[in-house]
Amino acid sequence: MSSAQRQYILQGRKKVRGWFYRVDAEFFFLLTDYQNRNALDGSVVEIGLHHGQSFIALCLSLREGQRAYGIDIFEQQSLNGDRSGHGDRGRVERNLRAAGVDLSAVVLDGRPSGSVTPADILGTVGAARLFSIDGGHQREVVCEDLALAEKTLAQHGVVALDDFLRPEWPDVSAGYFAWFAQRSRPIVPFAFGFNKLYLCYQSHLARYQELIASSEFLRPFLCKHCSFGGSQIPVYQKFLQPDSQPQERWLEYLKLYHPDFYATCVAVRRVLRRRREPRRTAARDALH
Ligand SMILES: C[S@@+](CC[C@H](N)C(=O)[O-])C[C@H]1O[C@@H](n2cnc3c(N)ncnc32)[C@H](O)[C@@H]1O
Repeated sequence: MSSAQRQYILQGRKKVRGWFYRVDAEFFFLLTDYQNRNALDGSVVEIGLHHGQSFIALCLSLREGQRAYGIDIFEQQSLNGDRSGHGDRGRVERNLRAAGVDLSAVVLDGRPSGSVTPADILGTVGAARLFSIDGGHQREVVCEDLALAEKTLAQHGVVALDDFLRPEWPDVSAGYFAWFAQRSRPIVPFAFGFNKLYLCYQSHLARYQELIASSEFLRPFLCKHCSFGGSQIPVYQKFLQPDSQPQERWLEYLKLYHPDFYATCVAVRRVLRRRREPRRTAARDALH
């Protein structure tokens, strides 16, 4: 386990501006830690860095000989068609250094993602074990970014697509469905995180779902399972309704704004229940 990565996800992440939330940060940690423990080698890639909030978490998972590839238009913001974020190369580099990332293992590519070819990535950092997509939010851009991820993904790799099914960014979903209909490799969704859809090769779906299900931290955030993309997949996001009961409102508030406190409360409650259970069983047995 990388303690630097863990520390960044719990604390350091909050000092970097961006859109990388606690539940998805846990997904990134779980997935890359699992890959490292099981010698599932490869690079990490992100399209859309802004100030590097999620990219740093990926870079902190790198092991000896592994490299990261970050793509952002940076100073060419006139190409940022939907004004989603504002990449800043200087800030990304400063934030990477402050988090303790070795910059010699990182390639920053300042071109629009549509100009980056699979050979650019495969030739410099090799196949990706985690490919995060959070760049342009237009339909064609998302569709092209997913195609780039598909062509550079290792067999055991994971794609994380930001803002999927989010009403503010309908084109992200349109881009996903356009790509999904024409994809040439058996890559399928395996989980909805907080604000990201996670995909992998069909052959790895069961093991990644087991990994996610085994997380003590994620368990209290699980909302339901749904049928999607040909499989049953877990959903770790919930919309609060105006008629939600006060207790539910409080729980959702804690989940959203104090996720670690909430997860700790649930864990403590589980331990207390388990302790009480033998006493209750003994009392029941005594009555019979
Ligand atoms: C929402 S922000 C990324 C947030 C970031 N992942 C984080 O952790 O906070 C989107 C980024 O994508 C970049 N971008 C927009 N269109 C792009 C394109 N066509 N190619 C590459 N980068 C793009 C923007 O400059 C911006 O930095």
